[in-house]
Amino acid sequence: MPRTFYVTTPIYYVNDVPHIGHAYTTIAADSLARYKRLTGYDCFFLTGTDEHGQKVEKAAQESGQTPLELADQVVERFKGLWTKLHISFDDFIRTTQKRHVEAVTALYQRIWLKGDIYLGDYEDWYCTPCETFWTQTQLAEGNRCPDCGRPTEKLKEKSYFFRMSRYQDALLRHLEENPNFIQPPSRYNEILNFVRSGLKDLSISRTTFRWGIPVPNDPDHVIYVWFDALTNYITAAGFPGDKERFQRYWPADCHIIGKDILRFHAVYWPTFLMSADLPLPKKIFAHGWWTVEGQKMSKSLGNVVDPHQLVDEYGVDPIRYFLLREVPFGTDGDFSRSALVHRINGDLANDLGNLVSRVLAMVKKYRKGIVPSAQRGSEGEGRLSTRVNEAVEEMGIYMEQLAFHRALGAVWDLVGAANKYLDETSPWNLAKDEGRRKELEGILYNSLEVLRIVAILLFPFLPSTAQRMWEMLGLRGKLGEQRIKKGQMWGGLPEGLQVAKPTPLFPRIE
Ligand code: MSP
Repeated sequence: MPRTFYVTTPIYYVNDVPHIGHAYTTIAADSLARYKRLTGYDCFFLTGTDEHGQKVEKAAQESGQTPLELADQVVERFKGLWTKLHISFDDFIRTTQKRHVEAVTALYQRIWLKGDIYLGDYEDWYCTPCETFWTQTQLAEGNRCPDCGRPTEKLKEKSYFFRMSRYQDALLRHLEENPNFIQPPSRYNEILNFVRSGLKDLSISRTTFRWGIPVPNDPDHVIYVWFDALTNYITAAGFPGDKERFQRYWPADCHIIGKDILRFHAVYWPTFLMSADLPLPKKIFAHGWWTVEGQKMSKSLGNVVDPHQLVDEYGVDPIRYFLLREVPFGTDGDFSRSALVHRINGDLANDLGNLVSRVLAMVKKYRKGIVPSAQRGSEGEGRLSTRVNEAVEEMGIYMEQLAFHRALGAVWDLVGAANKYLDETSPWNLAKDEGRRKELEGILYNSLEVLRIVAILLFPFLPSTAQRMWEMLGLRGKLGEQRIKKGQMWGGLPEGLQVAKPTPLFPRIE
């Protein structure tokens, strides 16, 4: 049985309009999932939508629909974008699905039976748009929400509480014993300090709106949206009914999230699971935030970057590439068109695109487009196959760390090595000398072989470009079915294939 790998994105607020920040999390998770599949894992990649809560209820009222009608309609915005971005999710969860309502109810009941839920009074500052209660000390000036800056209101209500305080020591121990539980390290420290400063009990039910999952035995209350939303990760893994599936996929290997929702994932979620006697996820990775031309992205500034428009303008792979290459995963980044164009013209068109066109052009010119036979044992073969092994090894290390920019860097080093190899061996000079025909063919073969392996290694990041490269080499079948271990073996490209006419992979942008 292949080993499993379970990776998740957050579930996105269904009534939000997806932007480049949402696309970022999802593209990262997609690249990781594709990579894991290429290394032979039985990968389960989950995304979906967060559909309950006051915001959806309000928006539905305003548009004269039921909340579910609204959700059914707007969920397509996410699904459509994921199709456009070539996101290879295995399951799309919606919190309004029956399976999820069952899972949330079951989790709540387990925690209730454990004696970790009690009825109390909740009073604090509430930000309705963010659906978050804040303490006085957290508020921004003028009692405003520290996240969105809008006014909050003091709200008091009966509420069920989760005894989170009971799990402070256990969580602290878990953090201390598992320093990789939360990444990057700066985020780990942030949570460590937060937990050390003391955990209070958490209000997990609301009576101020109706659109949610009812509390078992007290239907005046609906379950707090974050309790509801976080549970999605176990719903999709088969909790509570499908024991075999649950056994197989849970605990998740990696929750990928943005830094703004770390506390929910790294404090609330593990303590819920501890109370329910369920295993904790293995890793939580919090990435940074994108600003746009130096400014926070916001509707009111009108600078929200629409991923649809970007893809229409530049193509899907350049966008995927830029987001993962431009900044280290875990660090904040700034989105600018000039940086994007720079990456496209430099890395994609010049380095990769040129390598592909010059190799194909020479194969066409000197071999009528037919893949020559390998000349085994040449110096070039030794050099390039060593570079291949290094790239594969480095990529493995970096993908483990979710250092996507470095993993891409390792592939680009290989591309650079192949470009350098051509410059140094100048096959165009050898072509003038009939006596050196075999040598020429060996160089062409070696270069084609690097292209074949580069296509496999790029597939997680640039799936359609990689597939195109594969087909340009005359290879058939879906790249996604390849395995790196076999694919990296030198000499895999069969002699005699007909390669494509060189056409630019990435047009330069003026
Ligand atoms: N529904 C909750 C998540 C529940 S998960 C159990 C939610 N949804 S969200 O749609 O608001 O945000 C989803 C993700 O988008 C978060 O990981 C967030 O960090 C990410 N981003 C939103 N804006 C972003 C940027 N400007 N830059 C990078 N990522 C950003 O929170």
